[in-house]
Amino acid sequence: MKKVYIETMGCQMNKSDTERMLGMLEHFGYEEVQNPKDADLLMVNTCSIRQLSEDKAFSLLGAWGRRKKLDKPDLKIGICGCVAQQKAEKIFKRANYVDFVLGTHNIYKLPEVIKAVENGEKVCECKETNKVEDTKDFKIKRVKSTNAWINITQGCNNFCTYCIVPYTRGRERSILPEVILKEAKDALDAGHKEITLLGQNVDSYGKDFTDRNYRLSDLLRDLNAFEGKFRIRFVTSYPTDITDELIQTAKELDKVCEYFHIPMQSGSSEVLKKMNRRYTRKDYAQTVAKIRKMIPDVTITSDFIAGFPGETEEQFCETITAIDEFELDYSNVAAYSPREKTVAAKWTDKFIPEDVKSERFQRLNEAVQRNCLKSNLKYVGREMEVLVENFYERRGKMINTGKTRNNKTVHIPFDRDLTGEFVNVKITGAKTWYLKGEVI
Ligand code: SAH
Ligand code: SF4
Ligand code: F3S
Repeated sequence: MKKVYIETMGCQMNKSDTERMLGMLEHFGYEEVQNPKDADLLMVNTCSIRQLSEDKAFSLLGAWGRRKKLDKPDLKIGICGCVAQQKAEKIFKRANYVDFVLGTHNIYKLPEVIKAVENGEKVCECKETNKVEDTKDFKIKRVKSTNAWINITQGCNNFCTYCIVPYTRGRERSILPEVILKEAKDALDAGHKEITLLGQNVDSYGKDFTDRNYRLSDLLRDLNAFEGKFRIRFVTSYPTDITDELIQTAKELDKVCEYFHIPMQSGSSEVLKKMNRRYTRKDYAQTVAKIRKMIPDVTITSDFIAGFPGETEEQFCETITAIDEFELDYSNVAAYSPREKTVAAKWTDKFIPEDVKSERFQRLNEAVQRNCLKSNLKYVGREMEVLVENFYERRGKMINTGKTRNNKTVHIPFDRDLTGEFVNVKITGAKTWYLKGEVI
């Protein structure tokens, strides 16, 4: 068997695409290896959300290119994902050792691409099709044994002024419920204990169906009806698209977890307007308050950007107060990075100097840590159910780690590997990034 190594960067979408590509490659005689040195085919599944992510991809490619030149001329090298979609043929100019470029709209073409590459051709498949990728004839090779991520929508129509995703993933399109339910059924039959539905805006699911009225709440209900004990999650939610019906459905269904990821991006209504986000600080506050009122112990997480073009010190402080005031349990934070084709990248006269951006980024991190610890401390002394995901040794002790329903990470010292099991624990301590628990 030939050997393939895939390095996956970026978000869950890419991780899910990698699982699909590995499934296809296995079908065509490739075995996955964990060490790139053992591979005949090297692939990097790239992210272009920030300049840094893109640079990381090219530096990895450079190292692979040198290996190909010096030690292994038969080595095949491919680039896929968001940088591939965005740069297409230009990649061959920058990295002439690359054998193929495969965009995000063309994953289903991987088998033909590999065939051509094996025959010595150079291939670029990056046409924007806006079709739902048809890879359902192939088995998905899931990386984790407990969690299965299932794409329910592809692309995005929101065009936030900072974001490259609409250009790298195309227009928003929903995957048919029958395809999703079949994937979920297969994952559950294979022993997975958690299904996470993925999309840039999961609440928009089904808006584009013309032949049926079927939305995220319907999908959650149909999934919840499957037999057996398992959990359901969904990410990412757009603040103003979360309907009362969705919150009510999430509350009612026993398998749907108490967890919402709702990126706010900025605490300032003026900045939000410039970001082309369709809500104000007040709208966001109302959504969070409503969810907290309806669903006890719910975890609400967010994303924020520091130093968006034109952001004043006062506006930035509104982001800090938003994290504190809404008691956001955790947030991903990033310094603004100008991206090709996006509207905000043209506002060069409004760019915030690097040192100010990184200082704001630092203060954002502090706010996140403060609220994360505060949120974790609430659970000390409580009993919680953990789905164990990992088992490893640390300083001579065996530790199981997993997640509660509300997405808190718990470390449980225990000698036996409990991976894939639901365990009831008593929370004995709280750190910034995790809880400590004892099996009851
Ligand atoms: N669909 C999700 C976000 C997907 S991108 C949403 O609408 O919230 C993931 C995160 O990357 C974003 O939430 C944003 O915080 C961050 N991000 C996107 N573009 C960025 C840029 N140009 N610079 C810095 N961070 C960015
Ligand atoms: Fe990017 Fe905005 Fe779409 Fe999220 S909603 S993927 S931030 S354009
Ligand atoms: Fe995801 Fe990065 Fe693309 S965040 S959608 S892999 S640009």
